[in-house]
Amino acid sequence: MRIAVPAETAPQERRVALVPESCKKLIQSGYEVAVEAGAGVAAGFADQAYVAAGAEVQPDPARLLGAADIVLKVNPPAVGSGRNEVAWLKPDAIVIASLMPLRNLAVVPLLAERRVTAFATDAIPRTTRAQAMDTLSSMANITGYKGVLLGAVELNRYFPMLMTAAGMVTPAKVFVIGAGVAGLQAIATARRLGANVLATDVRPEVKEQIESVGAKYVGIELAQSAAAGGGYAKELSPEDQARQRQLLVEQCAQSDVVITTALIGGVFAPRLLDAATVRSMKPGAVIVDLGADGGGNCELSRPGETVVEGGVTILAPLNVPASMPHHASLLFSRNLTAFVQAFTKEKAFVLDFTDDIQQGAVITHAGEVRHARTREALAKAGA
Ligand code: NAI
Repeated sequence: MRIAVPAETAPQERRVALVPESCKKLIQSGYEVAVEAGAGVAAGFADQAYVAAGAEVQPDPARLLGAADIVLKVNPPAVGSGRNEVAWLKPDAIVIASLMPLRNLAVVPLLAERRVTAFATDAIPRTTRAQAMDTLSSMANITGYKGVLLGAVELNRYFPMLMTAAGMVTPAKVFVIGAGVAGLQAIATARRLGANVLATDVRPEVKEQIESVGAKYVGIELAQSAAAGGGYAKELSPEDQARQRQLLVEQCAQSDVVITTALIGGVFAPRLLDAATVRSMKPGAVIVDLGADGGGNCELSRPGETVVEGGVTILAPLNVPASMPHHASLLFSRNLTAFVQAFTKEKAFVLDFTDDIQQGAVITHAGEVRHARTREALAKAGA
């Protein structure tokens, strides 16, 4: 079977879905691999490195996709007028990408009409067997790490405590909201830089995880559980939201940097910091809203922009993993390779919807939208 890796063309995107090390592995598993010319350059992987790994480099994306049985991508296929990747696909081709169907609904019916089998790596169930394929975790780790660095650069003071000839400076106080994969990495990174770190979450098991990476847990007793299974959280009841708001106001007022990473169902960012909370913060404080791709955790965030409100700087960076494209591509590529290899039998990818991973990740197949939450969202959007 032939695997194709087109260049990513979304604005600001610098990642590539497959790196040379993975091409080698997939070729050893029996696949042919072709990569669009220049696809890896922005991530530090030159065309020559792909050729050395045994892949073919194809300058024409339409020919590349038209010949592919499997297409590996970071973002959903492009559907612009100059570059319509869906139209170039063979019917029955398999697309494996971080499709994020609930955030990219418009492309789903097009993939279904083309009779493409599309797998979203972000919909892979969170089981031990699927851990090596989990692009959400790989990318969230980068987001948490880089988010702290962005906050540190913006902050007008040191993170660590320092003893200097001019006297002592006290450590910065960092408050992390949401302690999933991104949040735990943000805590660990802020701790490595010497900050005093506090963190909160709404899933009860997280307290221990927060403490194990060196932060102090702060939280409220919830009247209703917010755990939605698979590590995902659901929205808090109005009463719990009001009580959590109180905690957030108190903690934000004392913090130099607030890093927010909260998501509902892994997709949408709940509004946790309102304008009044931001106004209660110290001038010079920094908020890094890592929920920006999901709409933002802070009412005053403008996704993709930096705003200053009452002396508080609010960063809301979009697609943070693309700002660290080398390691983001390497890890993404290893995740995709694990997915493909898990279903390779006799040198071919075998579709098997009785398997829980394929069943969870399939978005479209044989002309239908197979993913229930996406189907519901499409019906709602249509209505
Ligand atoms: P996520 O990106 O969906 O959400 C981020 C965090 O925000 C979560 O910890 C969530 O509880 C929290 N949150 C939501 N609403 C909040 C609110 N109102 N206030 C404060 N925090 C709020 O989650 P992520 O990071 O993708 O994964 C969460 C967990 O899932 C991990 O910590 C891990 O335990 C589990 N997981 C398991 C995997 C596996 O077994 N294969 C793979 C990935 C994650």
